[in-house]
Amino acid sequence: MGHSSTNQLPRTNITRLLAFHRDPLGLLSNLAQSDLPLTHFRMGPWPFVLAAGEEAVYQILVRHGKELEKGPGMDQKNPLIGRGPLIAEGTLWRQERRAVQPVFDHQYFEHYAHQIVQIVTDYAKIFSDGPKQVMMDNEMLVLTLKIVVSTLLDGEQDLELLRQISTDVQAVMTYFFRRSRSAIRIPYNWRYLGPRSYHRAAQELTRWIKQLLMEHPKTLMVRRLQDDLATDDDAVIQSALTVVMAGHETTGHALAWTFGLLAQNPGVQKTLQDELETVLGRRVPTIHDLDALPFLQSVIREALRLYPPVWLISRKNPQPLTVLGHTYRPGTFFLVSPYVTHHLPGLYPEPDSFNPARWLNQGRIDHLMSYLPFGHGPRRCVGRDLALMEMALVVAVMVQRYSVSMPKDFIMRPLPKLSLVPAHGMPLVISPR
Ligand code: HEM
Repeated sequence: MGHSSTNQLPRTNITRLLAFHRDPLGLLSNLAQSDLPLTHFRMGPWPFVLAAGEEAVYQILVRHGKELEKGPGMDQKNPLIGRGPLIAEGTLWRQERRAVQPVFDHQYFEHYAHQIVQIVTDYAKIFSDGPKQVMMDNEMLVLTLKIVVSTLLDGEQDLELLRQISTDVQAVMTYFFRRSRSAIRIPYNWRYLGPRSYHRAAQELTRWIKQLLMEHPKTLMVRRLQDDLATDDDAVIQSALTVVMAGHETTGHALAWTFGLLAQNPGVQKTLQDELETVLGRRVPTIHDLDALPFLQSVIREALRLYPPVWLISRKNPQPLTVLGHTYRPGTFFLVSPYVTHHLPGLYPEPDSFNPARWLNQGRIDHLMSYLPFGHGPRRCVGRDLALMEMALVVAVMVQRYSVSMPKDFIMRPLPKLSLVPAHGMPLVISPR
């Protein structure tokens, strides 16, 4: 998993660009070995700055967070989510962030927690005739889709439909990823040149989200979006789709990594089973139990450290920008990589080992610039607290009922696509306890 610092760094712009395409985690990890907070380099014709380490992360995401815009790959012309809160800039983004923020207010969390536990308890039954091997990444993507649709849009959807929608989300994400790396970008609406699978999936997702919005006009999210973006139907649709996609893809992969790590580390899994047994016995968890489950929280923190689903956060400066005494010309790309930062040995001793105990007794860690699975600053993940609660409840309910193990010879390896995904999926054997 780790990337050796002895690898030769590619010397020319072009070889660096090729290396970035071939192995971005390796290239960025190597560049981050310099002791400088900001490492400057060019790839092709473009100037890049890699910000690794606490001070650099603070400078880019927090201190200069308001002066910077989203970087490459975040395409405002994207017809599905380009005008939603993840990608939009300026006034539209501020309106959207203000509109969705109340949905994530803690006053609703007890209700969300209750719904999440019901959904996962019910879902978990499909494994009860095991032991059986499943693709855990696909399972978790469907589960998290069901959760985000039920909690935020009040939509009761059957699993078969959700499996199809989850596949559609993967298809459009794959296309967006390929497109972000390609030198030639045909307009999105040239239906005859773009891949058919993308157009079909995009059309299906738009139809589906419009129907959900229409059927559930009274949910807080729909009311907030419609009140705040009243005259702009397109922004309402793209915002709702953004929240569903951002909420399910990241959390689904984060859970897949967490179960993969538990399968690889039976000792950790046993400690977690014991904690759950002591605190909960056989009853299902509630939101009020979470503070009494420090090892569970540590497992989740550690999984998000080793395999942060958002492995790269990028920005660019519309105006000249001075950071730590150096002035950058407009159009410089700033890269902050949660993955690279989380694997720096100076910040995390034995960075590649899965050691949840490193988090015990740490209290709140929101302020740590060395830990950034949800980013930092004004564009920090709006769903962070919901995602953390959701992960804790899903892992608790599953681990109470099942053990997970990994097929012999399976190698768990990260592949950086739009999210950090398991390169060969996550085949796990699930056995009732
Ligand atoms: C483990 C799960 C999750 C991870 C790792 C994650 C990670 C992130 C990160 C790193 C960003 C900031 C990107 C940047 O600064 O450029 C972000 C933004 C965002 N996330 Fe999450 N996220 C997760 C779950 C969720 C959930 C559950 C939701 C909603 C239900 C959500 C909705 C959003 C939205 C709307 C934004 C855009 C915020 C803005 O720009 O104002 N995320 N997420």
